[in-house]
Amino acid sequence: MANTKIKNLYVCSECGYESGKWYGKCPSCGEWNTLNEEIRETSKNSSSFTAARRKPVSSPVPISKITTEDEQRYYTGLKELDRVLGGGIVKGSLVLLGGDPGIGKSTILLQICSHLGKILKILYISGEESKRQIKLRAERLGVNSDNLFIMTETDIEVIADQIQSESPDLVMIDSIQTMNYKELNSSPGSVTQVRECTNILMRTSKSLDIPCIVVGHVNKDGAIAGPKVLEHIVDAVLYFEGDKQMSYRILRAVKNRYGSTNEIGVFQMGDNGLSEVENPSLMLLSGRPKNVSGTCVACTMEGSRPILAEIQGLVTNSGYGNARRMSTGFDYNRMSMLLAVLEKRCGYFFSSMDAYVNVIGGLRLDEPATDLALALALVSSLKDIVVSEDLIAFGEVGLTGEIRSVNRAAMRVTEASRLGFRRCIIPYHNLKGLVLPKDCDIEIIAVKNIREAVSALGG
Ligand code: TYD
Ligand code: MG
Repeated sequence: MANTKIKNLYVCSECGYESGKWYGKCPSCGEWNTLNEEIRETSKNSSSFTAARRKPVSSPVPISKITTEDEQRYYTGLKELDRVLGGGIVKGSLVLLGGDPGIGKSTILLQICSHLGKILKILYISGEESKRQIKLRAERLGVNSDNLFIMTETDIEVIADQIQSESPDLVMIDSIQTMNYKELNSSPGSVTQVRECTNILMRTSKSLDIPCIVVGHVNKDGAIAGPKVLEHIVDAVLYFEGDKQMSYRILRAVKNRYGSTNEIGVFQMGDNGLSEVENPSLMLLSGRPKNVSGTCVACTMEGSRPILAEIQGLVTNSGYGNARRMSTGFDYNRMSMLLAVLEKRCGYFFSSMDAYVNVIGGLRLDEPATDLALALALVSSLKDIVVSEDLIAFGEVGLTGEIRSVNRAAMRVTEASRLGFRRCIIPYHNLKGLVLPKDCDIEIIAVKNIREAVSALGG
């Protein structure tokens, strides 16, 4: 390749799109203001690294001859994390742990070390904190092991060499945005750097069969490359979500080559780090107000787990010409649709009303089965009817006001009964084939449309 200098190369921090000129809106992913300038010399870029690896290192093998027995997994000691990973960390895999700064990524890494440090040699490489800072945090979390090695380094080649010479059983990189590949001119944290450093880690970890967990910060202003550009490279992408103000943290897999992406893990941040929440419904429903209108409990499936969550609705007279709508934890457009259905099919008028919706606990509900609870919370607030405390509702609301069936109805009802609910509004079409366990003591109210559901509230 010619040794020409390309100036003014613009790279999108969201999707990695490259362009010779600047755009306000990325032509590839449509995000605004994400194109950042990078200077790159073509002769010095990653091609030198890849060229050396042209030799064929493996030959095709018939699929019947491949065995899966050698897939080895390490359990992290945190059941919630293991479930999201699909049953522990797979040997030789590269896992990206993304999330907003301060959400608890470094904390969870150290906590994994407390369990795995007993059996594995772990190399924890930090480019963000000093050894002393890490030690202080480890002391607070009660992590201490002779098998846990801390290194503060940002040069990715030095890191790759260290991994090779130390040959640990597990590597942790905190964070990828601080890592630097000297061959590239761009600054650490830029898309090119982040991508190239991850590629180097990927090759190192695959060739030595060492699992590696990489932390990536998500930054909304686009100044630092979001881990989105890395999603294709790594084996699994986990996102740590939650309100920083709230103590709950939800770990979600958005990609997993070794398991399902439906599972979530729930944690709570306390004085001694993150603790697992085995019964999220109980936590989410604690402190529920009694005898007030504008709240209804929904049941959503997160992977194989039913989770109960409280939806609150507040409907007030609009002081301005335009009615305001606001939604936290629930899709805004879907909420507007439900308001329209309630107006058209039930005669509840929201057009001159402000409507606010909030899902408690920082949970995000994106399953249509939660429609009915939201609609009931809104009607409850509008008409000031109290939805009884021991009532739960689930079902998808269609545009004609019909309540459509949802999957795993029996599991949802059982969970509601287990948590002490006595009445459950379910879609009529779910009634057929609903087999409940014997000890499930709950009254089932099957409804065909939204009108029937509202009248089941009484009042
Ligand atoms: P941290 O793991 O440093 O976040 P990240 O690596 O994702 O940037 O978590 C930092 C936050 O967690 C910080 O605001 C303090 C809080 N925290 C606790 O509340 N309790 C604890 O025991 C620890 C270690 C942190
Ligand atoms: Mg950190």
